[in-house]
Amino acid sequence: PRSVIFDTDPGIDDAMALFLLARHPALKLRAVTSVFGNASIEVTTRNARALCAFYGQPVPVAAGAAGPLFAHAARPHSTHVHGEDGLGGRAELALAEQDLAPLDPRPAHELICDMVNAEPGEITLIAVGPMTNLALALQHDPGIAAKVAQVIIMGGAFGTHGHSGNVTPVAEANIINDPEAADQVLAAPWPVVVVGLDVTHAVVMQESYLDGLRGRGGQGAAVGEFLWQATRHYQDFYHSVAGIEGIYGHDASAIAYAIDPSLFTLRAGPVRVVTEGLAVGQTIQNTRPAASLTAPWDQSPAQQVCVAVDGPRLLALFEQVF
Ligand code: BDR
Ligand code: CA
Repeated sequence: PRSVIFDTDPGIDDAMALFLLARHPALKLRAVTSVFGNASIEVTTRNARALCAFYGQPVPVAAGAAGPLFAHAARPHSTHVHGEDGLGGRAELALAEQDLAPLDPRPAHELICDMVNAEPGEITLIAVGPMTNLALALQHDPGIAAKVAQVIIMGGAFGTHGHSGNVTPVAEANIINDPEAADQVLAAPWPVVVVGLDVTHAVVMQESYLDGLRGRGGQGAAVGEFLWQATRHYQDFYHSVAGIEGIYGHDASAIAYAIDPSLFTLRAGPVRVVTEGLAVGQTIQNTRPAASLTAPWDQSPAQQVCVAVDGPRLLALFEQVF
């Protein structure tokens, strides 16, 4: 199995993604690092520790960034989407401190550097929150870029199929929460796969699907119930803003890519992030011929952007782990 460090801001869809990662035999969860985003760093770190305990994952959990690299980029946490507790407000994960997965003493970016350096070529980073911890890890030790197997991020919106941003007309939440960090991560010399709204908006978990997860027997039953409770608020939110019946499986889609890349169609080209002004947080991929590029595009590595997904097959994959 592929060894994975999961960087996350749980977060309802983050909680779904972590379950898929924990349960699928193609992947081995090695550590979890938390980041601000859907809620404060205190809340997301506690949720990460509670979820690891609930899912039976004895891995280190390290706390990461409390805000973006530059204070001017700070925005309110997304508690209107994920609830004050980050998990929809009615899920029962109120574990006592001693029942939470233990907190690693290192900051998230140091844990990432230590693990990558200890096992060069082996670790895949999957980041489904703001990219701040990954950017800090690159600043701390730029040498890790050559030693990471792959970086898979959930973030961005490239306007294919008419899919625009979910915070502004051009910006997706994880990117606009720290545009400078995202730009550094995408411009670094490591292989990045970008799983953005262009594909996650085609991964809709409808009410009947969520009901189905809840109704399953076996080991996944308690988790199905928990996720059903957690998604009540999230579903109301998407109903009011997007008019859909159901929720988008944003973060689980990044895990699905790690398990089965054949679910997705990729497009290669350098990706940069707009860091100021009206279009702040917009992700742009160059698809023009390499020979026609000028600075800074000619200096950026070609990254892979997901432009299409087999949504039904992805949903079937997720369902299998319950
Ligand atoms: C992303 O933003 C967060 O709110 C979700 O957890 C997901 O990672 C979707 O834009
Ligand atoms: Ca997330």
